[in-house]
Amino acid sequence: MRTIDWNDENETLIMVDQTLLPIDYRMIACDNIGSLCEAIQSLRVRGAPALGAAGGFGIALAASRSSVDSMETLLDELKAAGDTIKSTRPTAVNLAWGVDRVLDAARDAYDTDGIRKIVLQEAKAIADEDVELNKRLGAHGAALLNDGDTVLTHCNAGRMACVDWGTALGVIRSAVEMGKDISVIACETRPLNQGGRITAWELMQDKIPVTLITDSMSGHVMRQGLVDSVIVGADRITQDAVFNKIGTYTHSVMAKEHGVPFCVAAPVSTFDFERMEDEVEIELREGDELRFMAGKQIAPLDVQVYNPAFDATPMENVTAIITENGVFTPPFLLDEVRFLL
Ligand code: MRU
Repeated sequence: MRTIDWNDENETLIMVDQTLLPIDYRMIACDNIGSLCEAIQSLRVRGAPALGAAGGFGIALAASRSSVDSMETLLDELKAAGDTIKSTRPTAVNLAWGVDRVLDAARDAYDTDGIRKIVLQEAKAIADEDVELNKRLGAHGAALLNDGDTVLTHCNAGRMACVDWGTALGVIRSAVEMGKDISVIACETRPLNQGGRITAWELMQDKIPVTLITDSMSGHVMRQGLVDSVIVGADRITQDAVFNKIGTYTHSVMAKEHGVPFCVAAPVSTFDFERMEDEVEIELREGDELRFMAGKQIAPLDVQVYNPAFDATPMENVTAIITENGVFTPPFLLDEVRFLL
């Protein structure tokens, strides 16, 4: 079952509601842009590649709900829907990439029916390609792992963060499929606990050995020699930095200090190589995500909170970037990366 998909019967976007995991596995349907935006903002659907698919399907949803019969008006409506979708979460570049790819495809149509058909085809192509490219990415990454390795990961870069298979967890799945014995240390990933709630659950479903730790334990386990490599996903890769879930940078510093390879697994659609770190907006989320946990107050109600959802890891801390087109290694030169993308 895919994490996000299109229901042809009633023309709705369906997805796993990830806020309910691991207690409940439930599909929900979005039948308008408002409910899709709510689902993205509240992380019912999350993870950069899944957001790329959500962006693409969002345009298909807007097209299917519009009854205008002028091409120009329909294209304007879709562009406005795209801007609304893109504004929900600013850091993961795949969201805007998915929206823009489908909007670009719409311009090839000759009439409004053609637009509706093309945007849905393109959105479905994004979803299909995501599954296929994650398998290729996984195979490239799996070759880097040795039988018996323990991999530390952060947040969730698994099938729930993609349409299927996963990026960082895709590498682990591919290595296991090749017959390698791989264990995983999953960092909890405060404040929304994607590591504990989703990564641990996903790996246990696949019977891949996983041990849950708090984020602050990563230095300790590396110092103890318990980690062979770190593999994380990415939300955006600029020329000088990898943006990923808050806490990733700290793990990269610990990995460098302890001589542990720090690898990033991400599809080409996550690269934003024309930009530099300081041009990227890091999403700031509600303070209540730190003041409350599972509905229970855990800090003073009026305490000031700083809650960035992502951080930037400088390229000098990155050992390899694993993509569907192969593995990039330092110095990550602009021309070399452009050529391979
Ligand atoms: O806030 P989230 O849960 O959407 O953050 C997700 C991550 O940071 C993932 O590591 C990243 O999107 C890569 S997913 C393949």
